Amino acid sequence: MTKRKTAKTTAAPEPKPRILVVHGPNLNLLGTREPEHYGRMTLSHINLSLARLAEAAGVELDAFQSNHEGALIERIHAAREQGVRAIIINPAGYTHTSVALRDALAAVAIPFVEVHLSNIHTREPFRHHSYFSDLAIGVICGLGHDGYRLALEYLLNNIDINIE
Ligand code: DQA
Repeated sequence: MTKRKTAKTTAAPEPKPRILVVHGPNLNLLGTREPEHYGRMTLSHINLSLARLAEAAGVELDAFQSNHEGALIERIHAAREQGVRAIIINPAGYTHTSVALRDALAAVAIPFVEVHLSNIHTREPFRHHSYFSDLAIGVICGLGHDGYRLALEYLLNNIDINIE
């Protein structure tokens, strides 16, 4: 008896949910930049530990840093095309100045968590106002590099429930 060939239907694997981490200006200098405010961990170390955490949860994590407002805005626009589910953003100095970056996040309507390494509320008065906080799901500040991990853990725990 000859075996009948059955057509195998190999369904394309579900694309992994994507999370984007955006780092604003001067954060490329982490590790050496004002360690009393920002700690000694480098940006690549932070990104690597976030990537490991995301991978273990089956989530794809992209990290992007720029010192240019327009580049940050364009990365956020691209996130919508890529179906990014959530963003973690430390807008750095743009926190206190950039209506345009705020508008980009509002335009793509991707839920985001705002993170700051330092506690901006205990620093100079000009750092107390953020153009992002009222749009954010949540804000974490003052917990150093742990703030990024806590933001990611929150999103990983909630990505299927709250974020569609
Ligand atoms: C920062 C705080 C901002 O005021 C500052 O301009 C930064 C970093 C933080 O992570 O603590 O560049 O966002």
